[in-house]
Amino acid sequence: MTLTTRLGRRALLSGLGGLALAAPVAFRPRPALAALRGQPLALPALDEGRTEAGRRVFDLKVAPGGREFLAGVETATIGVNAGFLGPILSARAGDRLRMNVANRIGEPMTLHWHGLHLPAAADGGPHQEIAPDAVWSPEFDLLQKAGTFWFHGHQHGKTAPHVWAGMAGVIRIGDDEEAALPLPRNHGEDDFTLILQDRRFDADGQMPYTMTMHDRMAGMQGDVMLVNGQVEPVLETDAPLVRLRVLNGANGSFYGLQFSDDRTFYQIASDGGLLAAPVPMRGAILSPGERAEFLVDLSDGAAVMLRAESFGSEVMMMGTTGTHDMMELRPRGARPASAPPARLADLPPPAAETGPGRDFTLAMTGPGMMGDFTINGSGYDHGRIDFSVPLGVTETWSWTNTTPMLHPIHIHDVQFRILTRNGQPPAPQEAGLKDTVLIRPDETVTLRLSFADYADPVLPYMYHCHILEHEDAGMMGQFTVV
Ligand code: C2O
Ligand code: CU
Ligand code: CU
Repeated sequence: MTLTTRLGRRALLSGLGGLALAAPVAFRPRPALAALRGQPLALPALDEGRTEAGRRVFDLKVAPGGREFLAGVETATIGVNAGFLGPILSARAGDRLRMNVANRIGEPMTLHWHGLHLPAAADGGPHQEIAPDAVWSPEFDLLQKAGTFWFHGHQHGKTAPHVWAGMAGVIRIGDDEEAALPLPRNHGEDDFTLILQDRRFDADGQMPYTMTMHDRMAGMQGDVMLVNGQVEPVLETDAPLVRLRVLNGANGSFYGLQFSDDRTFYQIASDGGLLAAPVPMRGAILSPGERAEFLVDLSDGAAVMLRAESFGSEVMMMGTTGTHDMMELRPRGARPASAPPARLADLPPPAAETGPGRDFTLAMTGPGMMGDFTINGSGYDHGRIDFSVPLGVTETWSWTNTTPMLHPIHIHDVQFRILTRNGQPPAPQEAGLKDTVLIRPDETVTLRLSFADYADPVLPYMYHCHILEHEDAGMMGQFTVV
C-alpha cells in the first residue's frame, strides 16, 4: 500500500526508500485545489496493437505517472502507457492476442483481463504475479462476443490501491454480428468510452490510498467524480445519436446514471456483449466492475448533463452520497437521428444444466459490523482451491447475501446468465451476458454458467466481490476447471 501513497512514490523515485521520509521538505506555497472542470472530454488512446506472426500484440508499460486533476497540481498516479489509466485495447473476436505487460511500479503486481474467457495461466489474477521490472507475456485467443471489457491490477491485497492509483483500462472488442448493426461505432465521433470513478484528494492534491475504518468496511469512495480522469468534462459532438461505453471503474462506488432532463436512453449491451434488443430507461445502476453500453438521442440539439447518484455498499444504512454532475453532452446543433435498431444480438436462452448446483453465502463474521467478509464461511486463502468444476459442464450457482451491504459478485473465466433474482426473472438489461452481478442484502440470485475450452489442474480462477476493499479483505475464493 505504501508504494502507491505520495510519500511512497517520492521515496520510490528517489531510490532512498524510507530515508527519503526524513529529508527536509522544501517550502512551497499551498496550491488552490480547485478541480479542473469543463475541459473537452479526452478519450483514452485507441490502441489497435501491432501485428506480429499472425497475433495482435499489445505492449503495456505499467509505471508511476502523474495527472492534473486539480488545477495547477500534479497528482502522483499509476498509468498504463499513459499518466493515469491506460489505452483502449481494440481487437476483433477470434484474434490471437499477445500482451506484453512490463511492471515498472517497483513492487509486485498483476494485470487481469476482466470479462475475458481465457486459460487460467493467462488470466492475470493473483497467481500470475509479475515481479518488479519483469515482463509478462500471456497469449490467448479472443473467444468473445463484441463488447466492452477491461483490465486492471489484481495483486492480492493490493488490487484496491493499484486501481485507485490508476492501474486500469478498457478492452473494446468487435465482431461481425455487431458490425452488421446500424450502431454508432466511430471512436471519438459518435462512440465514446467512459471510465467512471471517484477519488479523494488530500490538502496537497494527492490521492494517497489511506483507508479509514469506515472505508475498510464500506469500500473507498471519493468526493471528486472522474470521467476518464477528468472532472466534469464536456463532450461536444455532431452526432445526433451517440453510443456511450461505460465502465464503473470505481473501488467502492455504485453509480445510478441519469440525465439532467430525465430523458430516456437505451441500454444496448451488458458486461459481455449486446443485449437482444435495446432497453429504454431513464436510470441505470452500474456496480463496481460492471460495464454497459447506451445509446443517447441528442437530435434535439439541447445540452444535457449526465449525472450519477453515487452510493456505497452500506447504502441501506447510510444513504447515498448525493447526485453528481459527471459530464455535459453538448450537441453542435439539432439533426435528425435514426431510431435505435429494434433487434441487437442473437441471444439464446441460458444453456441447460448438466452438473450439480452450488450455493454461495455472503456473510460477515465477528462482532457487529467490524468482522470479516466471508463466502461460505471462509475468507480468501491463496493456497486453497475452494472447488473444482469439470470441463464442459453447465452449472447453476445460487448466491445469497446475508450481510446488510451490497456486494457486486464477479466470476472469472465465464460470461454467465442470470436466471432469477429473488425467484423472479431478471430485468431485460440483466438478461444478457454478465460477469459481475449486484447482490443486495437478503437477495438470492441464481446464475447459469458453462465452463468450456480451458482446463488447468493447478491454476485457478477467482470469484469475488468487486468492491475492491472487500476483495482485498478476502471476500474472494478460487476454483479450477479440470
Ligand atoms: Cu475485475 Cu477479479 O476482477
Ligand atoms: Cu475479472
Ligand atoms: Cu462486497
